Amino acid sequence: MKDASPQTIYLSDYTPPAFLVEEVHLTFRLNPKKTRVISKIRFKPNPASKSRDFFLHGEGLRLVSARVDGQAVEPELTDEGLTCAVPDAPFVWEAEVEIDPQGNTALEGLYMSNGMYCTQCEAEGFRKITYYPDRPDVMGVFTVRIEGDEKVLLSNGNLVAKGDGFAEWHDPWPKPAYLFALVAGDLVNHPDRFTTRSGREVELNIWVRPGDEGKCAFGMEALKKSMAWDEKTYGREYDLDVFNVVAVDDFNMGAMENKGLNIFNSSCVLASQETSTDANFERIEAIIAHEYFHNWTGNRITCRDWFQLCLKEGLTVFRDSEFTADMRSAPVKRISDVIALRARQFREDNGPLAHPVRPESFVEINNFYTATVYEKGAEVIGMLKRLVGDAAYAKAVDLYFERHDGQACTIEDWLKVFEDATGRDLSQFKRWYSQAGTPRLRVTDDFKDGTYTLHFEQETPPTPGQDEKAPQVIPIAVGLLGPNGDEVVETRFLEMTEAKQSFTFEGLGARPVPSILRDFSAPVILERETDNAERAFLLAHDTDPFNKWEAGRDLARDGLIEMIVNGAAPDDAYLDAALTMARDDTLDPAFRALALGLPSQDELAQTLHERGHTPDPQAIWDALETLRHARAEHFQDLAPRLYAQYQVAKPYAPDAEQSGARALANAALGMITRLDGGAQAGRQYDSADNMTQQLAAFSNLLQAGQGQDAVTRFYDQWKEDRLVIDKWFMLQIVHAAPEDAAKTTEALTQHPDFTIRNPNRFRSVLGALAMNPAGFHHAGGEGYRVLADWLIALDPLNPQTAARMCSAFETWKRYDRERQAMIADQLDRILATKDLSPDTTEMVSRIRN
Ligand code: PHE
Ligand code: ZN
Repeated sequence: MKDASPQTIYLSDYTPPAFLVEEVHLTFRLNPKKTRVISKIRFKPNPASKSRDFFLHGEGLRLVSARVDGQAVEPELTDEGLTCAVPDAPFVWEAEVEIDPQGNTALEGLYMSNGMYCTQCEAEGFRKITYYPDRPDVMGVFTVRIEGDEKVLLSNGNLVAKGDGFAEWHDPWPKPAYLFALVAGDLVNHPDRFTTRSGREVELNIWVRPGDEGKCAFGMEALKKSMAWDEKTYGREYDLDVFNVVAVDDFNMGAMENKGLNIFNSSCVLASQETSTDANFERIEAIIAHEYFHNWTGNRITCRDWFQLCLKEGLTVFRDSEFTADMRSAPVKRISDVIALRARQFREDNGPLAHPVRPESFVEINNFYTATVYEKGAEVIGMLKRLVGDAAYAKAVDLYFERHDGQACTIEDWLKVFEDATGRDLSQFKRWYSQAGTPRLRVTDDFKDGTYTLHFEQETPPTPGQDEKAPQVIPIAVGLLGPNGDEVVETRFLEMTEAKQSFTFEGLGARPVPSILRDFSAPVILERETDNAERAFLLAHDTDPFNKWEAGRDLARDGLIEMIVNGAAPDDAYLDAALTMARDDTLDPAFRALALGLPSQDELAQTLHERGHTPDPQAIWDALETLRHARAEHFQDLAPRLYAQYQVAKPYAPDAEQSGARALANAALGMITRLDGGAQAGRQYDSADNMTQQLAAFSNLLQAGQGQDAVTRFYDQWKEDRLVIDKWFMLQIVHAAPEDAAKTTEALTQHPDFTIRNPNRFRSVLGALAMNPAGFHHAGGEGYRVLADWLIALDPLNPQTAARMCSAFETWKRYDRERQAMIADQLDRILATKDLSPDTTEMVSRIRN
């Protein structure tokens, strides 16, 4: 099957590089339209390769001159790079190329954003800067000279020289080209310092455009906390004299871990009380940590090839989630992560884009920066840690750093350190990396003579290219509660390895109530026949916060499914249990706010589909509206009490405690608004001194259909702040009534502040449409057409972002014939577009099949 598409790349085809790089010297003569890049690279033949074919990647470069060992050469140029005759011995390659940063709208390679130069090289952007073996298993020591008039000239590593119109940087750590970075602009910095535990003095800077200085303090604190945490928890110290972070407005992704020079989407680093919500602050703290943690998991130890992406991403996501759990509330973090995992990764795993955590083939690697690689990749590491225990995990990870520092590694290397450190055989566990799809875990139980037995059956449905699945190792955390609500068996880990397996608990006085998959101990779908009484019991008594939350969530979800499928009324069992839970002031307000969250429209559509129904987006929306209204009435007395009780009196701080209080108060506001039509929200809007309160009020007003005035006021107040205006665009679309969503989106694309060039703005409008499922899937199909129109328009400018956003269509086979036909038409229209990028072609073809 290797000829499906000529450009498909297979893991099984990996071969080592023919030549290795020892040293790289780069000189940049910056110019917006004609930047010169002069490279001098020392190569040597790779003893591990039989090939002596010299090939350098290069795309969109104008080659000015090339030399081998000082002699001019004329390499053979192709669309993908060049080949050239070279000695079978170490040699020096020199080249001069010209590139056009200003014309670079794809935001890969060297480009300009608001007058500043910046780079994005992961995964394969360096080849747009100069000719180079642009693959992660080629690691070199870089020295970079930047010539330009900008006040600030930055690259990786330590500054070695600086003068009028130039700066020179040297990075002593060998690295792959994807970690290269350069920034030049009239930037200002927010400086600080950190002393590592062995006494290295590190200069820290966050570089921003003038005007954004006031939004750096929080990110800086997060950076210092991350540095201290990685020393304490993983024994990892920083290894350069300076750590620079730069905020860039035009960026395809969240942030990038370039060695010593992290580049951030400004939305993922800039924060202030007035402009950022509590959720923004928490996310920024996590992303700062994530990129910083990459310094060891990703940079010091990198990936052999892009199929191993989860080696750095899964591990780094796992590490940043541990960090957030330590800095804030561990249960709240776990619950939020599972909500996101189900919304994004389960959705991916159950549709046409399903792929293993370590994919086996791709056309465009940019299409594989997915929830599966990142979030499921992190879950797999969490399971590994559960299976071997905390001490063995620490030992194995130490061994990983010791054995592989400076190397480009594979998942095999990663698993081997666990095998060597623990003596365990992980060959079956490895299936988590190779089998796609979310396992279903069916449970039944019985009780006889004091013995309680849990019977498990696992099954993973077929996914594209994988019809048959073998049983996986599933760590199942179980606790048992007695009839009075006491825990009679504390959390135990059951290690399931067979397709069917039973586990017994002896010496019980009465039939217990099981609490299964505590802390969401494995990324599976648990299926168990149970009733409302048991769920209400678990919501009231479970000692495991995750399962306590899950019990309430299941109650809400199944009640909603009954409403949607059978036209049932809102479920009293849910309403009563939710009221009891919300009233319990011994519970963390953040937990209560999460427990008052209802399943999303998309999660309900997914559940309906899993249970053999065809989801009707309008019916889902109606059911949620009905339930929200019934709940508001049920909470008529409690909601105002919670609202008043959880107003924060202290000066604003985006910490876990205050955020939790505000989240609960705002959940109460949502209920109040259902009954008062927006009066309270209006008062909150007027008095808010922070974006969390202002935005919650704004959302409620929009939701209640009372937002017109606020739309104008919000815009007038914030029109100079791009990040806040992104929220303004997004909320109007997310809260539009289903029948208006496509119209509202189209109208907002005509707003003078809309631009197709800025990925954040594009996503805040077109991405928002997909975040309003009843609107996106509204019966006329306008939503599909609007999104397709704009993806077609974006593709030639920025294929990476266009391709990613195609995933809005990935669930199309869930829906009815009419909708499927309309979506198929749009997918075909996109595919038929002349010169469609390989990125978007790959995504749409996979979705369409
Ligand atoms: N490696 C980045 C991260 O996870 C993500 C990224 C990928 C950014 C590709 C840009 C381009 O932190
Ligand atoms: Zn990452």
